Amino acid sequence: MALYAIGDLHLSFGTDKPMDVFGGVWNNYVEKLREGLKVITPEDTTILLGDLTWALDLSGAKEDFSFINDIPGRKIILKGNHDYWWSTAKKFYSFCQEHDFSDMLILNNNAYTYEDIALCGTRGWFFEEDAAVGSHNDKIFKRELIRLETSLKQAQGREIYCFLHYPPRYRGYECPEILQLLKAYGVSLCCYGHLHGDSHKLAIEGDYDGVTFRLCAADYLRFQPLRIK
Ligand SMILES: [Fe+2]
Ligand SMILES: [Fe+2]
Repeated sequence: MALYAIGDLHLSFGTDKPMDVFGGVWNNYVEKLREGLKVITPEDTTILLGDLTWALDLSGAKEDFSFINDIPGRKIILKGNHDYWWSTAKKFYSFCQEHDFSDMLILNNNAYTYEDIALCGTRGWFFEEDAAVGSHNDKIFKRELIRLETSLKQAQGREIYCFLHYPPRYRGYECPEILQLLKAYGVSLCCYGHLHGDSHKLAIEGDYDGVTFRLCAADYLRFQPLRIK
């Protein structure tokens, strides 16, 4: 039994947006993912940290989720900035039922457990999205903070691993409101994705103020899921 994390699969079976066009590490990325994901067994849990598919809606995401469904074991999914298919949990679960996809769970305003660890998280926030007070983005930002805290509250005294799509800190940037929540709830590990290509240089990994940070974007991990427990 193991716990894995990987984000940014950026699948595009149903759309014309393959990542191979970015070249380099993204060449044949689906094959690399297939290989990398082979370590996962039916007893394992895998957290998928957003940017899963380029599809614009669930019907267009069928093949991408079929690929994800083929990953053995429990899959816990959170939202990235490119997950346009995301609407409501209810719609997602009926989509799964309709296509016989199982063991795919949404992490949004809730939490799961793995052994004695609480698995919490949300999409998070990024400086690209200006959160000027009173703006539309400010409202989304505050909603994300509420979602994160709602999730963290469900840890109920357990050790907490927190999963975010956006990095709450990297070189030259910090999101103090999110970092404060991680600290206040005693999060021990924070995994994030979103950073690609040259942005990998900006990633901060390791211990900071009591929290261990890990970048889990698929290209950074060379398409091998990161074993975190
Ligand atoms: Fe991404
Ligand atoms: Fe992203």
